[in-house]
Amino acid sequence: MVCLGNICRSPLAEGILQHKADEAALNWTVDSAGTSNYHIGSPPHHLAQKVAKMHGIDISRQRGRQFKKEDMLVFDRIYVMDNAIYEEVKRTSRELWDAKKTELIMNELYPGEDIDVPDPWFGTEEGFHEVYEMLDMACEKIVNPNP
Ligand code: 4NP
Repeated sequence: MVCLGNICRSPLAEGILQHKADEAALNWTVDSAGTSNYHIGSPPHHLAQKVAKMHGIDISRQRGRQFKKEDMLVFDRIYVMDNAIYEEVKRTSRELWDAKKTELIMNELYPGEDIDVPDPWFGTEEGFHEVYEMLDMACEKIVNPNP
């Protein structure tokens, strides 16, 4: 799960997908990162933590890290939160870039529509709830593609 800061959107996505995968007894390892170096070592935004907790998900132990091109090799799937992040992941992955394993996360729900998960960083708590609902639906589809 990749966003810009690794403190708002991708920590929520990591928490939601790991929670759903665990509930489904899938042996998945979910991780997240940011393309920027702004918040390396920081816990998730307090409103991301609050909204996750309201849904019974504890993301407080996550810490920000920066995406590195080797992540392209380590993980089977790379989900990015918006179109700008997609381009940045492509650029920084260089020779390791793999278009087949990289996807805009909302394309899981709305294939080919290239919808962004909006950045809630400058907004209010409402923005974090909106992001949570989008990611919850997308992660449900990832865990259970053919309900
Ligand atoms: P995120 O949100 O990419 O969803 O973690 C942001 C967090 C921090 C900043 C931008 C976006 N920032 O500019 O510090």
